[in-house]
Amino acid sequence: MRIQSLPIQLINQIAAGEVVERPSSVVKELIENCFDAGATQINIDIEQGGARLIKIRDNGCGIVKDDLPLALSRHATSKIFTLQDLEQVVSMGFRGEALPSISSVAKLTLISRTAGAECAWRVTADGSESNFDPKPDSHPEGTTIDVRDLFYNTPARRKFLKSEKTEFTHIEALIKRMALSRFDTSFRLTHNQKEIFNLKAGLTYLSKTQRIANICGPEFIDHSVNIDFTASGLQLSGWVGLPTFSRSQQDMQFFYVNGRLIRDKLVSHAVKQAYQDVLFHGRHPVFVLYLMLDPTLVDVNAHPAKLEVRFREGRLVHDFLFTALHRSLANLRP
Ligand SMILES: Nc1ncnc2c1ncn2[C@@H]1O[C@H](COP(=O)(O)OP(=O)(O)OP(=O)(O)O)[C@@H](O)[C@H]1O
Ligand SMILES: [Mg+2]
Repeated sequence: MRIQSLPIQLINQIAAGEVVERPSSVVKELIENCFDAGATQINIDIEQGGARLIKIRDNGCGIVKDDLPLALSRHATSKIFTLQDLEQVVSMGFRGEALPSISSVAKLTLISRTAGAECAWRVTADGSESNFDPKPDSHPEGTTIDVRDLFYNTPARRKFLKSEKTEFTHIEALIKRMALSRFDTSFRLTHNQKEIFNLKAGLTYLSKTQRIANICGPEFIDHSVNIDFTASGLQLSGWVGLPTFSRSQQDMQFFYVNGRLIRDKLVSHAVKQAYQDVLFHGRHPVFVLYLMLDPTLVDVNAHPAKLEVRFREGRLVHDFLFTALHRSLANLRP
Protein backbone atom coordinates (compact mmCIF):
# COMPACT_ATOMS: atom_id res chain seq x y z
CA MET A 1 0.00 0.00 0.00
CA ARG A 2 1.20 3.50 -0.84
CA ILE A 3 1.57 6.19 1.77
CA GLN A 4 -0.38 9.41 1.38
CA SER A 5 -0.90 12.58 3.37
CA LEU A 6 -4.25 12.88 5.06
CA PRO A 7 -6.59 15.76 4.27
CA ILE A 8 -6.41 18.55 6.86
CA GLN A 9 -10.00 18.16 8.00
CA LEU A 10 -9.36 14.49 8.76
CA ILE A 11 -6.16 15.36 10.62
CA ASN A 12 -8.19 17.74 12.76
CA GLN A 13 -10.91 15.14 13.28
CA ILE A 14 -8.28 12.71 14.52
CA ALA A 15 -6.96 15.37 16.91
CA ALA A 16 -10.55 16.02 18.00
CA GLY A 17 -10.65 12.40 19.13
CA GLU A 18 -8.33 13.41 21.96
CA VAL A 19 -9.44 16.98 22.59
CA VAL A 20 -13.22 16.65 22.26
CA GLU A 21 -14.62 13.75 24.18
CA ARG A 22 -18.03 15.27 24.87
CA PRO A 23 -19.72 18.70 25.03
CA SER A 24 -18.05 19.58 28.34
CA SER A 25 -14.62 19.18 26.71
CA VAL A 26 -15.57 21.88 24.20
CA VAL A 27 -16.71 24.11 27.05
CA LYS A 28 -13.42 23.54 28.87
CA GLU A 29 -11.31 24.51 25.86
CA LEU A 30 -13.38 27.60 25.11
CA ILE A 31 -13.38 28.85 28.69
CA GLU A 32 -9.63 28.30 28.95
CA ASN A 33 -9.26 30.51 25.90
CA CYS A 34 -11.37 33.18 27.64
CA PHE A 35 -9.04 32.98 30.66
CA ASP A 36 -5.99 33.37 28.44
CA ALA A 37 -7.63 36.38 26.76
CA GLY A 38 -7.90 38.11 30.14
CA ALA A 39 -11.70 38.02 30.23
CA THR A 40 -13.50 39.09 33.41
CA GLN A 41 -17.01 38.23 32.20
CA ILE A 42 -17.85 34.91 30.57
CA ASN A 43 -21.35 34.06 29.39
CA ILE A 44 -22.08 30.47 28.52
CA ASP A 45 -25.27 29.48 26.71
CA ILE A 46 -25.99 25.81 26.28
CA GLU A 47 -28.82 24.12 24.40
CA GLN A 48 -29.74 20.46 24.58
CA GLY A 49 -26.86 19.51 26.82
CA GLY A 50 -24.40 21.15 24.46
CA ALA A 51 -25.12 18.79 21.57
CA ARG A 52 -27.16 21.47 19.80
CA LEU A 53 -25.39 24.65 20.95
CA ILE A 54 -22.45 25.79 23.03
CA LYS A 55 -22.04 29.54 22.84
CA ILE A 56 -19.42 31.34 24.89
CA ARG A 57 -18.94 35.08 24.96
CA ASP A 58 -16.11 36.88 26.72
CA ASN A 59 -14.93 40.43 27.19
CA GLY A 60 -11.26 39.53 26.68
CA CYS A 61 -8.68 40.98 24.31
CA GLY A 62 -10.25 39.64 21.11
CA ILE A 63 -8.46 38.52 17.94
CA VAL A 64 -7.38 40.89 15.16
CA LYS A 65 -9.03 40.33 11.80
CA ASP A 66 -5.88 39.05 10.07
CA ASP A 67 -5.31 36.43 12.77
CA LEU A 68 -8.80 34.89 12.58
CA PRO A 69 -7.83 32.24 10.00
CA LEU A 70 -4.80 31.34 12.13
CA ALA A 71 -6.93 31.01 15.27
CA LEU A 72 -8.79 28.25 13.45
CA SER A 73 -5.68 26.56 12.06
CA ARG A 74 -3.77 23.77 13.69
CA HIS A 75 -0.44 24.49 15.39
CA ALA A 76 -1.01 28.22 15.35
CA THR A 77 -1.01 29.91 18.74
CA SER A 78 -0.35 33.31 20.27
CA LYS A 79 0.74 31.72 23.54
CA ILE A 80 4.15 30.14 22.97
CA PHE A 81 6.87 30.46 20.34
CA THR A 82 9.80 28.44 21.63
CA LEU A 83 10.52 25.32 23.64
CA GLN A 84 11.60 27.59 26.47
CA ASP A 85 8.17 29.24 26.43
CA LEU A 86 6.55 25.80 26.61
CA GLU A 87 8.67 24.84 29.60
CA GLN A 88 7.50 27.84 31.57
CA VAL A 89 4.02 28.24 30.16
CA VAL A 90 1.48 29.93 32.41
CA SER A 91 -1.38 30.20 29.92
CA MET A 92 -4.02 27.47 29.78
CA GLY A 93 -3.46 26.91 26.06
CA PHE A 94 -0.24 26.29 24.19
CA ARG A 95 -0.90 23.66 21.49
CA GLY A 96 -2.89 25.69 18.99
CA GLU A 97 -5.16 22.73 18.58
CA ALA A 98 -8.47 23.31 20.31
CA LEU A 99 -10.35 25.47 17.80
CA PRO A 100 -9.37 23.57 14.61
CA SER A 101 -10.23 20.28 16.36
CA ILE A 102 -13.62 21.53 17.53
CA SER A 103 -14.40 23.06 14.13
CA SER A 104 -13.72 19.72 12.42
CA VAL A 105 -16.51 17.99 14.36
CA ALA A 106 -19.06 20.80 14.78
CA LYS A 107 -20.29 23.96 13.06
CA LEU A 108 -18.10 26.68 14.52
CA THR A 109 -18.51 30.43 14.15
CA LEU A 110 -16.08 32.87 15.69
CA ILE A 111 -16.83 36.57 16.13
CA SER A 112 -14.23 38.79 17.67
CA ARG A 113 -13.38 42.41 18.18
CA THR A 114 -10.20 43.95 19.55
CA ALA A 115 -9.87 47.27 21.36
CA GLY A 116 -9.89 50.14 18.90
CA ALA A 117 -11.17 48.05 15.96
CA GLU A 118 -13.87 49.69 13.85
CA CYS A 119 -16.05 46.61 13.94
CA ALA A 120 -16.01 42.95 14.85
CA TRP A 121 -15.19 40.18 12.34
CA ARG A 122 -16.85 36.83 11.87
CA VAL A 123 -15.47 33.59 10.42
CA THR A 124 -16.89 30.11 10.15
CA ALA A 125 -14.87 26.94 9.91
CA ASP A 126 -15.26 23.25 9.17
CA GLY A 127 -11.79 22.04 10.10
CA SER A 128 -10.51 22.09 6.52
CA GLU A 129 -8.60 25.30 7.24
CA SER A 130 -9.61 26.86 3.95
CA ASN A 131 -12.16 29.39 2.70
CA PHE A 132 -11.80 31.68 5.67
CA ASP A 133 -13.38 34.89 4.61
CA PRO A 134 -13.84 37.26 7.55
CA LYS A 135 -17.10 39.23 7.36
CA PRO A 136 -17.80 42.39 9.35
CA ASP A 137 -20.19 41.96 12.25
CA SER A 138 -21.31 43.80 15.36
CA HIS A 139 -19.98 42.66 18.71
CA PRO A 140 -18.54 44.45 21.73
CA GLU A 141 -14.84 44.10 22.53
CA GLY A 142 -14.14 40.41 23.15
CA THR A 143 -15.01 37.15 21.48
CA THR A 144 -18.01 34.89 20.94
CA ILE A 145 -17.61 31.33 19.79
CA ASP A 146 -20.68 29.49 18.70
CA VAL A 147 -20.42 25.71 18.36
CA ARG A 148 -23.46 23.97 16.89
CA ASP A 149 -24.43 20.38 16.22
CA LEU A 150 -21.47 18.66 17.84
CA PHE A 151 -20.40 15.49 15.99
CA TYR A 152 -22.91 16.19 13.17
CA ASN A 153 -20.37 14.84 10.68
CA THR A 154 -19.03 12.02 12.86
CA PRO A 155 -22.17 9.98 13.62
CA ALA A 156 -20.18 7.22 15.30
CA ARG A 157 -19.11 9.70 17.94
CA ARG A 158 -22.48 11.39 18.23
CA LYS A 159 -23.92 8.05 19.20
CA PHE A 160 -21.79 8.07 22.32
CA LEU A 161 -23.35 11.25 23.68
CA LYS A 162 -25.36 10.60 26.80
CA SER A 163 -28.73 12.13 27.61
CA GLU A 164 -29.15 15.89 27.49
CA LYS A 165 -29.35 15.93 31.28
CA THR A 166 -26.16 13.94 31.80
CA GLU A 167 -24.16 16.03 29.35
CA PHE A 168 -25.42 19.23 30.92
CA THR A 169 -24.55 17.95 34.40
CA HIS A 170 -20.97 17.48 33.20
CA ILE A 171 -20.91 20.99 31.78
CA GLU A 172 -22.32 22.58 34.92
CA ALA A 173 -19.86 20.73 37.18
CA LEU A 174 -16.98 21.71 34.93
CA ILE A 175 -17.86 25.40 34.91
CA LYS A 176 -18.18 25.40 38.67
CA ARG A 177 -14.76 23.82 38.99
CA MET A 178 -13.31 26.38 36.62
CA ALA A 179 -15.07 29.23 38.44
CA LEU A 180 -13.29 28.23 41.65
CA SER A 181 -9.98 29.04 39.98
CA ARG A 182 -10.97 32.58 38.93
CA PHE A 183 -12.66 34.64 41.58
CA ASP A 184 -11.95 37.76 39.50
CA THR A 185 -14.21 36.55 36.70
CA SER A 186 -18.01 36.46 36.46
CA PHE A 187 -19.65 33.38 35.00
CA ARG A 188 -23.20 33.28 33.74
CA LEU A 189 -24.60 29.95 32.59
CA THR A 190 -27.89 29.28 30.82
CA HIS A 191 -29.37 26.00 29.62
CA ASN A 192 -32.16 26.06 27.04
CA GLN A 193 -32.52 29.83 27.68
CA LYS A 194 -32.97 29.35 31.41
CA GLU A 195 -30.43 30.90 33.77
CA ILE A 196 -28.69 28.25 35.87
CA PHE A 197 -26.31 30.51 37.74
CA ASN A 198 -24.70 33.90 37.65
CA LEU A 199 -21.55 34.00 39.71
CA LYS A 200 -20.36 37.55 40.25
CA ALA A 201 -16.66 38.41 40.32
CA GLY A 202 -15.14 39.53 43.61
CA LEU A 203 -11.78 39.24 45.28
CA THR A 204 -12.70 40.03 48.89
CA TYR A 205 -12.64 37.18 51.38
CA LEU A 206 -16.40 37.48 51.69
CA SER A 207 -17.07 37.21 47.98
CA LYS A 208 -14.66 34.30 47.65
CA THR A 209 -16.40 32.40 50.42
CA GLN A 210 -19.74 33.20 48.82
CA ARG A 211 -18.62 31.58 45.58
CA ILE A 212 -17.24 28.58 47.45
CA ALA A 213 -20.51 28.24 49.36
CA ASN A 214 -22.40 28.48 46.08
CA ILE A 215 -20.39 25.66 44.58
CA CYS A 216 -19.51 23.41 47.53
CA GLY A 217 -22.61 24.11 49.62
CA PRO A 218 -22.86 26.61 52.50
CA GLU A 219 -21.97 23.97 55.11
CA PHE A 220 -18.50 23.62 53.65
CA ILE A 221 -17.45 27.11 54.76
CA ASP A 222 -18.64 26.42 58.32
CA HIS A 223 -16.81 23.11 58.38
CA SER A 224 -13.50 24.08 56.87
CA VAL A 225 -10.45 26.17 57.64
CA ASN A 226 -8.71 28.62 55.41
CA ILE A 227 -5.03 27.86 55.03
CA ASP A 228 -2.04 29.63 53.50
CA PHE A 229 1.31 27.95 53.70
CA THR A 230 4.59 28.81 51.98
CA ALA A 231 7.91 26.94 51.97
CA SER A 232 10.73 26.22 49.51
CA GLY A 233 9.15 28.48 46.89
CA LEU A 234 5.85 26.57 46.98
CA GLN A 235 2.59 28.05 48.19
CA LEU A 236 -0.52 26.15 49.22
CA SER A 237 -3.65 28.08 50.05
CA GLY A 238 -7.37 27.45 50.11
CA TRP A 239 -9.88 25.66 52.26
CA VAL A 240 -9.63 22.24 53.86
CA GLY A 241 -12.68 20.52 55.27
CA LEU A 242 -12.73 19.41 58.87
CA PRO A 243 -12.37 15.65 59.29
CA THR A 244 -15.94 15.60 60.63
CA PHE A 245 -17.15 16.97 57.31
CA SER A 246 -15.93 14.05 55.20
CA ARG A 247 -17.79 12.36 52.35
CA SER A 248 -18.25 8.83 51.08
CA GLN A 249 -17.02 9.88 47.62
CA GLN A 250 -14.14 11.95 46.29
CA ASP A 251 -16.58 14.31 44.62
CA MET A 252 -15.69 17.50 46.44
CA GLN A 253 -12.01 17.75 45.98
CA PHE A 254 -10.68 20.61 43.96
CA PHE A 255 -6.98 20.99 43.40
CA TYR A 256 -5.41 23.65 41.19
CA VAL A 257 -1.81 23.95 40.12
CA ASN A 258 -0.99 27.47 39.00
CA GLY A 259 -4.69 28.03 38.35
CA ARG A 260 -5.19 24.83 36.37
CA LEU A 261 -7.57 22.20 37.71
CA ILE A 262 -5.82 18.85 37.72
CA ARG A 263 -6.07 15.36 39.10
CA ASP A 264 -2.84 13.81 40.20
CA LYS A 265 -1.87 10.65 42.02
CA LEU A 266 0.95 12.29 43.92
CA VAL A 267 -1.39 15.00 45.17
CA SER A 268 -4.10 12.50 46.16
CA HIS A 269 -1.53 10.45 47.99
CA ALA A 270 -0.17 13.40 49.97
CA VAL A 271 -3.68 14.50 50.92
CA LYS A 272 -4.71 11.01 51.89
CA GLN A 273 -1.67 10.62 54.09
CA ALA A 274 -2.23 13.96 55.78
CA TYR A 275 -5.81 13.00 56.65
CA GLN A 276 -4.96 9.40 57.49
CA ASP A 277 -5.02 9.77 61.26
CA VAL A 278 -8.11 11.92 61.46
CA LEU A 279 -10.50 10.33 58.96
CA PHE A 280 -12.46 7.13 59.28
CA HIS A 281 -11.62 4.43 56.78
CA GLY A 282 -13.55 4.81 53.55
CA ARG A 283 -14.28 8.50 54.07
CA HIS A 284 -12.89 11.21 51.81
CA PRO A 285 -11.93 14.77 52.69
CA VAL A 286 -13.39 17.88 51.10
CA PHE A 287 -11.01 20.59 49.93
CA VAL A 288 -10.43 23.48 47.59
CA LEU A 289 -6.68 23.94 47.31
CA TYR A 290 -4.43 26.10 45.20
CA LEU A 291 -0.80 25.18 44.73
CA MET A 292 1.39 27.86 43.22
CA LEU A 293 4.91 27.08 42.11
CA ASP A 294 7.51 28.11 39.60
CA PRO A 295 6.04 27.05 36.22
CA THR A 296 9.35 25.48 35.20
CA LEU A 297 8.83 22.92 37.98
CA VAL A 298 5.67 21.53 36.45
CA ASP A 299 5.14 20.00 33.01
CA VAL A 300 1.64 20.80 31.79
CA ASN A 301 2.21 19.07 28.46
CA ALA A 302 1.72 15.62 29.92
CA HIS A 303 -1.88 14.75 29.03
CA PRO A 304 -3.91 15.24 25.83
CA ALA A 305 -6.69 17.10 27.64
CA LYS A 306 -4.24 18.72 30.09
CA LEU A 307 -5.99 17.10 33.04
CA GLU A 308 -2.76 15.84 34.49
CA VAL A 309 0.59 17.46 35.09
CA ARG A 310 4.03 16.12 35.87
CA PHE A 311 5.96 17.62 38.75
CA ARG A 312 9.66 17.83 38.04
CA GLU A 313 10.41 17.51 41.75
CA GLY A 314 7.68 15.13 42.81
CA ARG A 315 9.16 14.29 46.19
CA LEU A 316 9.47 17.95 47.14
CA VAL A 317 5.87 18.69 46.16
CA HIS A 318 4.55 15.60 47.92
CA ASP A 319 6.37 16.38 51.17
CA PHE A 320 5.37 20.03 51.04
CA LEU A 321 1.69 19.17 50.58
CA PHE A 322 1.76 16.56 53.29
CA THR A 323 3.45 18.89 55.78
CA ALA A 324 1.18 21.84 55.00
CA LEU A 325 -1.99 19.78 55.37
CA HIS A 326 -0.82 17.73 58.29
CA ARG A 327 0.06 20.86 60.25
CA SER A 328 -3.21 22.55 59.37
CA LEU A 329 -5.14 19.52 60.54
CA ALA A 330 -3.05 19.13 63.69
CA ASN A 331 -3.85 22.73 64.61
CA LEU A 332 -7.52 21.85 64.59
CA ARG A 333 -7.21 19.36 67.40
CA PRO A 334 -8.48 20.68 70.71
N1 LIG B 1 -11.72 33.76 23.47
C1 LIG B 1 -10.59 34.16 22.86
N2 LIG B 1 -10.14 35.43 22.97
C2 LIG B 1 -9.01 35.84 22.35
N3 LIG B 1 -8.25 35.03 21.58
C3 LIG B 1 -8.64 33.77 21.42
C4 LIG B 1 -9.82 33.25 22.05
N4 LIG B 1 -9.96 31.95 21.71
C5 LIG B 1 -8.91 31.66 20.92
N5 LIG B 1 -8.11 32.73 20.75
C6 LIG B 1 -6.88 32.80 19.91
O1 LIG B 1 -6.90 31.71 19.03
C7 LIG B 1 -5.72 30.91 19.18
C8 LIG B 1 -6.10 29.45 18.97
O2 LIG B 1 -6.92 28.97 20.06
P1 LIG B 1 -6.82 27.43 20.44
O3 LIG B 1 -7.61 27.19 21.65
O4 LIG B 1 -7.11 26.63 19.23
O5 LIG B 1 -5.27 27.23 20.75
P2 LIG B 1 -4.45 27.65 22.04
O6 LIG B 1 -5.32 28.15 23.10
O7 LIG B 1 -3.36 28.55 21.58
O8 LIG B 1 -3.81 26.24 22.44
P3 LIG B 1 -4.63 24.93 22.97
O9 LIG B 1 -4.89 24.06 21.79
O10 LIG B 1 -3.67 24.31 23.93
O11 LIG B 1 -5.89 25.41 23.59
C9 LIG B 1 -5.20 31.24 20.56
O12 LIG B 1 -3.78 31.05 20.64
C10 LIG B 1 -5.61 32.69 20.74
O13 LIG B 1 -4.67 33.55 20.17
MG1 LIG C 1 -6.99 27.07 23.73
